[in-house]
Amino acid sequence: MFVPGLIERKRDGGALTPGEWRDLVGAYHIGTVPDYQMAALLMAVFLRGMTREETAALLDAMVDSGRRLDLSGLGLPVVDKHSTGGVGDKVSLVLAPLAAACGLAVPMMSGRGLGHTGGTLDKLESIPGFRTGLTLDETMAQMAKLGVAMIGQTPEIAPVDKRLYAMRDVTATVECIPLIACSIMSKKLAEGLTGLVLDVKQGSGAFITDAAKSLELAQTMIRLGEDRGCPTVALLTAMDRPLGRACGNALEAEEAIMALRGEGPEDLVEETVAEVVEMVVLGRTSGRADERTSVPGHRGTGAPGDRVVVEKEVRAALSSGKAAEKFRQMVEAQGGNPAVLEDPSVLPQAKEVEVYYAPRGGTVLRVEPRTIGRAVVEMGGGRTKSDDTVDPTVGFVITARPGQPVHASEPLASIFAKDAAGIALGRRALDLAIEIGAGKAELLPLIAARVTAQGVERLA
Ligand code: URA
Repeated sequence: MFVPGLIERKRDGGALTPGEWRDLVGAYHIGTVPDYQMAALLMAVFLRGMTREETAALLDAMVDSGRRLDLSGLGLPVVDKHSTGGVGDKVSLVLAPLAAACGLAVPMMSGRGLGHTGGTLDKLESIPGFRTGLTLDETMAQMAKLGVAMIGQTPEIAPVDKRLYAMRDVTATVECIPLIACSIMSKKLAEGLTGLVLDVKQGSGAFITDAAKSLELAQTMIRLGEDRGCPTVALLTAMDRPLGRACGNALEAEEAIMALRGEGPEDLVEETVAEVVEMVVLGRTSGRADERTSVPGHRGTGAPGDRVVVEKEVRAALSSGKAAEKFRQMVEAQGGNPAVLEDPSVLPQAKEVEVYYAPRGGTVLRVEPRTIGRAVVEMGGGRTKSDDTVDPTVGFVITARPGQPVHASEPLASIFAKDAAGIALGRRALDLAIEIGAGKAELLPLIAARVTAQGVERLA
């Protein structure tokens, strides 16, 4: 294989054959293709794109670089969800135990913070003792016992993605539809799923900010999943403001726990319930495309995939405490302090806390998520280098919502920091992120559309 020739062809707008992709990824995996050649190729892909055939070949080679989970012995539908990443997005912490409480097996493999977005693993690890680094064998054992595990990407699962992901993060090649699609789907398909729900973010805080492009990303991933026997549905959700109120690892873990206790903010609860409904419907109707495509809110038919019936079940699993109990069991099984459920003050606490007041009266027009996410990273709550340690205590709780009228000097947020400099940084970020003025807030709908292999269903 003459790698410079492959890079040159891609650079000049040509395509590699499926066999070339397979050999290249295989050679990269065993170390005979160096990182610098792969980095050059990734940049060529970023600039020139990939054909459908190339994207499929890259995905298959990435999945084949590692092992696959086989959870068929559990006798349960195996369904997961993946978000393309956002600010304040703690949905997974509520969703995984809730979906398991509804009878699904959920082997959730998550990531760390990337760029301005937070990561589920960092949020979970703010719970004292919680281990996300389970081996595949430990994961299988926990799945058999509890039906849910929340773990990091193990070295056995799509190892080439792990290396490519780290390289893309430092070579400005993250925001590329085929590369994002292959990265996400390689991990998910290796989980041996019978169904997958994708939460594709839209708006200024998403990686892909453009609405048409986020739909293209959703459709690319759906096609890759469906073509490989994994029924896949995507919801297009809003990331033009943070989700919920808390942004920052321990603060978000606390808000997720409040949601499991029935005291979560409305947007977080609505989005989580909508995604779990999709998961349960997929789990119960795998292979029955007619039921999977039925519209939300349609009249009850009593069929297992009936959304009205499923939504009632999901809300009951939340309000009855079943999901909270599942979360407690999972935290305990993964070495965390289960007391966190009754007493979130066992989470690490920030040294400095300051209230942020409205500098003027008017209407809250925007709460800009990217500014907030970047500030959390700068305050120590995320990484700028891969070996940085994360301070779980820092961040914001922003109670002001776009559209809300406020008076001058009204409290809008709290800043949590490790020192006075962090508080000052947080205050500057809020000055920039929270726009107050006259007029109306223009907001994306919380859930704009449901996308399946059959088409796009606008929900708002
Ligand atoms: N999440 C992933 O797993 N991969 C990407 O490339 C982007 C978000």
